Amino acid sequence: MYSEKVMDHFQHPRNVGEIPDADGVGVEGNARCGDIMKIWIKVEDGRIVDVKFKTFGCAAAVATSSMITELVKGKTLDEAEAITNKSVAEALDGLPPIKMHCSNLAADALKNAIADYRAKKLQSV
Ligand code: FES
Repeated sequence: MYSEKVMDHFQHPRNVGEIPDADGVGVEGNARCGDIMKIWIKVEDGRIVDVKFKTFGCAAAVATSSMITELVKGKTLDEAEAITNKSVAEALDGLPPIKMHCSNLAADALKNAIADYRAKKLQSV
């Protein structure tokens, strides 16, 4: 049912944890199942230099969360924002159609973290 990459990221998730002095924090919940993801980003010169996450969810939610942290590290905020749930699923060699909605958690939480960073930056100007 799941690809090897999904199982690998589910069983050995990358970048799990929190960043206490994060520049942006995003949370997203899945109304269909109650699962939730929180993501912390550290930004320098417009690039995401560190990222951590905690996800309370199914295998697909954990795997997409882990994969998105790998995809965004080192990317500019605009590049990171362009990452969609579909591109994360593709990077994992696909998700079963019934689990595609789970990939929204990671993509939306990341967008929320970037929006949080931008809002804080505006406030500090
Ligand atoms: Fe809740 Fe997958 S079943 S995110």
